[in-house]
This record gives sequence, C-alpha cells and structure tokens, in this order.
Amino acid sequence: MRGGAHRGGGTAMYSRILGTGKGIPGQVLTNFDLEKRVDTSDTWIVERTGIRERRILEEGRTTSDLAAEAGRAALEAAGLPASRLDAIIVCTVTPDVPMPACAVTVQQKLGANCAAWDMAAACAGFIYGLSVGDALLRAGNFRHILLIGVEVLSRAVDWSDRNTCILFGDGAGAVVLGASDQPGILSTHLYADGAQAGLLSIPGGGVICPATAASVASRQHFIKMNGKGVFLHAVRNIARASLDALAHNRLTPDQIDWVVAHQANLRILEGVAEKTKLPLSKFYLNIHKYGNTSSASIPIALDEAVRDGSIKPGQRLLLAALGAGFSWGSALVQW
Ligand code: UT7
Repeated sequence: MRGGAHRGGGTAMYSRILGTGKGIPGQVLTNFDLEKRVDTSDTWIVERTGIRERRILEEGRTTSDLAAEAGRAALEAAGLPASRLDAIIVCTVTPDVPMPACAVTVQQKLGANCAAWDMAAACAGFIYGLSVGDALLRAGNFRHILLIGVEVLSRAVDWSDRNTCILFGDGAGAVVLGASDQPGILSTHLYADGAQAGLLSIPGGGVICPATAASVASRQHFIKMNGKGVFLHAVRNIARASLDALAHNRLTPDQIDWVVAHQANLRILEGVAEKTKLPLSKFYLNIHKYGNTSSASIPIALDEAVRDGSIKPGQRLLLAALGAGFSWGSALVQW
C-alpha cells in the first residue's frame, strides 16, 4: 500500500499557508482573438467584465500537468519535499478523467506518497478545500497538505457561445498547508444553495445525461449559464460571506489588508466592495490577465500577491468566492 490515510502527529491549534505556487499555460487568448470567433468586442468584454485576456492550456497537456506545476512551485516556496506531504487535495470541476481522481495523478507526477483526493465545489472549490484542509490539520490527522485549485475550462466551454466563452480561462494555483501553533487560517465559512443549480451547470456527461452521439450533438457537455442570475447571487452572497467572516473574527473592514476574492467579473467585485464597505483598492485584482479560472483563481491571485510583495507577513486577508451550485464561502487568514 502506498501512503497512509492517517499519519497522526498530535493536535495543532492552527494551520498556516507555508508556500504558494501557480501553473499558468503559455498560450494567451485576447479579447481581439475572440472578436474573430464570436459576435463580441474588446470594448464590451472589458466594460462588462474587466477581462482583457485569458490563458488556454496547450494541446497534449492536461489538468494534472498544470496542477503538478503549481504544486511543485508551492512545495519549493514552502521548502518542503513532496515526500513529506500527508495529503494532496485537488479542487476542480475539470479533472483529467471522471475517474480516478485528478489528485492521484498529481501524486504520481510529484513523486509523493500520501492520501490524495478531489473536491468539487466549482469556483468556491479552493475555499471549501481550505476549510477541509484546515480542519484535518487542526484535528491532528495530518501535518502537511498540498491544496491545489486547477481548471481547464477551455475544454468545457462552448466556443460558439459568446455568453460564456469570453469569461473563462485555464490555470492552477496551489498552497502548502501546515499544522502550526501560530495563527494562520482564522476562520472559514461555507454555504450552498442547490435550488440555484440550474443557473450554472454542465448538463451532460453524468448519470442524468451520459455521453451519447445525441448529447454531444446538442452540446450538453458544455457550460450553460444564466449570467445575470449568477451575477446577482454572486454579489449578494460573496458580500454576506465576507461580512460573516469579519463579524466572526470581530474585525472591521479597515482591519483587513487584502481581499483575495474569486476573479469572476470586476463588476461583481465592485458590488461586493460597495456592500461590505471594503474599498476596492484592497481587492487584489488579476482578472484582466486570466479571466475566470474557477477554483484556481484565488490561489493564483494569492501566489501573485505574495511574490510581487503585496502580501506581507502579519497582514490579514479575506478570501471569498461563489460558484456553480451555488456553493460559496469565505476565509479569514493571518499571513
Ligand atoms: O464564477 C461564476 C461564473 N460566472 C459568472 O461570474 C458570470 C456572472 N455574470 C456576468 O459576469 C455577466 O452577467 C456577463 C458578463 C455574463 C454578462 O454581462 P451583463 O451585463 O449581465 O450582460 P447581459 O447578459 O445583460 O447582456 C447585455 C447585452 C445584451 O444585448 P441587448 O439585449 O442589450 O441588445 C447581450 O445580448 O450584451 C449582449 N451580450 C454581448 N455583447 C457582446 C451578451 N454577451 C455579449 C458578448 N459580447 N460576449
């Protein structure tokens, strides 16, 4: 048997992020490129979303390749060899294959010897994964967890649907979580509302609609979205989850240094800023470069903010996201 599901090691008060990394495909798809594919314009996309370009995974590469790249970078930043990992959690809705879990392929690619599994909470995947990872570390089950958010949405997008194809991109972000006596993850709040499942989904490819020639012909395997519906819920629920995190930690908006929120649409984040009284200047923004990379968006932004010196030791970060489900949540992190 490889690995061990329960390594033990005593309970810890906290978990902390020990290192961050990312995997970004080299291929850039600009709004001008999209003008040639669908009836849209750079001006419309920038005004309505804030997105200027996104990355597309090269043919022949897979979700686990990108995830492993991000994981390797995070391990290097944490100064931890893969052999010391107790678990790998991969948050994704675009795995290499439906079975087995993408995380076991990542385990192989990293040469790790540990538990490995996937979690699917769409764009809220990283927040859900952070909550689970934090709980496992504080419970003493594990000492080190590699948490990865990764998506290859370019292979789930209908490139003839201008309603969705302008929004999404590919990428991976990762963090190494470690058990610690020092405060790191201060709180996580998770929510879901399955009544809204129809607003954002991939109808085909599961048990309800297995792949058939007819399901492929009727484009059931692509992302379907009611943009306006998602937008309204995203502003309302990301704001509420953020306020819950502040209230739980008895913090006011001026005590937060950075908001690292899901990069879905700049206008969504403007709405959240208004509702929470967290100024937009505190929101770390990279949506213009990558578009919406779903569960990868927060860890990619975290990695960039750490590496460019924006996030400094001792600062307080608020993380928040909403995605298909709807599933959403927030986390308060002491860096
Ligand atoms: O992680 C969660 C994932 N999903 C999201 O975050 C999506 C959230 N929703 C959104 O970001 C926005 O709703 C969109 C960016 C998708 C759309 O923006 P909107 O301001 O809600 O536009 P709309 O759907 O109300 O469309 C406004 C107009 C329409 O034309 P008419 O009816 O006013 O003549 C659309 O047909 O813009 C048109 N339109 C476009 N025009 C150029 C819709 N999509 C496009 C497009 N290019 N790509």
